Amino acid sequence: MSTKLKVLEIFRSKGPEYVSGQELADTLGLSRNSVWKAIRKLQAEGFDIESKASVGYRLLQQEEDLLSAAYIRDSLNFPCKIHLLEEVDSTNDYAKRLKSVAEPHLIIADAQTKGRGRLGRSFYSPHSKGLYMTIAFEPDFGLDRSMLVSTIAALGVCQAIEEVTGLGPKIKWVNDIYLNGKKICGILTEAESNFETGTISRLIIGIGINCYEQVFPDDISEKAAYITASSGAFSRNQLAASITSKFFRLLETFDRRTILREYRSRSMILGQPVTLYGTAYGALPENGGRGIKARAIDIDDNGGLVVEYLEGRKAREMETITSGEVTVRKDY
Ligand code: BTN
Repeated sequence: MSTKLKVLEIFRSKGPEYVSGQELADTLGLSRNSVWKAIRKLQAEGFDIESKASVGYRLLQQEEDLLSAAYIRDSLNFPCKIHLLEEVDSTNDYAKRLKSVAEPHLIIADAQTKGRGRLGRSFYSPHSKGLYMTIAFEPDFGLDRSMLVSTIAALGVCQAIEEVTGLGPKIKWVNDIYLNGKKICGILTEAESNFETGTISRLIIGIGINCYEQVFPDDISEKAAYITASSGAFSRNQLAASITSKFFRLLETFDRRTILREYRSRSMILGQPVTLYGTAYGALPENGGRGIKARAIDIDDNGGLVVEYLEGRKAREMETITSGEVTVRKDY
């Protein structure tokens, strides 16, 4: 981590308190001149750092949790092109419009006007209240591995939220993240394939996290939640950097056993009665679909959900499902 980021972390941890240049220098084991240079760099990047003669420095606007491409870039130790946008239709659509993603790209927006969710839904993305990001890259692996990408994304996001906030979110198959029984994050994985070579030319992983207090639209107000009421309680920059690092690390090592063990241990549905929705089981809940009752038994080695049907013509049979949606049954 660069000196600049270390200084920023100290300011954040101190909140409204002043920190003297000497204290910063001692804590970081650096000269006062190096600390001063780091503060000047942060100020040039837009961080509102106040200095008070013979007292020290402090970071103003603690509340706002400003997004900073420079902060995220400095936190990643691999090449990644960062696009920071005030507002965009959808970060996934922006990623699709990029000419090339030979080098990985990370797109982050402060708000989306046409945020998209899975199964044709929209994703509510108001200004400064969430983290709306897309990782786009050219995979150097085939379809067999691509199946696990959604699993890896969910695990990486879950681990990053744990690291940055200290909370313990859970995963609802395949890649919704829940906190205290409500959804705080959804992931939309999309791929572009090259028919001639039979390979995937672009993977697009869109992640939407409800970070701070907000009023959700009526249709999701019962099910959605945010991480914390107080804006600025953690840093969206840190969260974005942590997610990106964890995602690429998991992908690089591709240790299937560890990935699945870690994923299963965070699953909120294993052993639970669930309702399955999707084309194979009838329409989605919002379209009046009834779904089919089943029990979630396991996650298989490809990230598929092993279920035992509890009704219908396949009652008592086990099957692995790879698409659709699951809700946890409360009436059981
Ligand atoms: C879901 O819950 O159905 C998935 C939601 C995915 C939302 C994210 S926000 C960033 C990226 N851009 C989009 O338009 N969607 C994803």
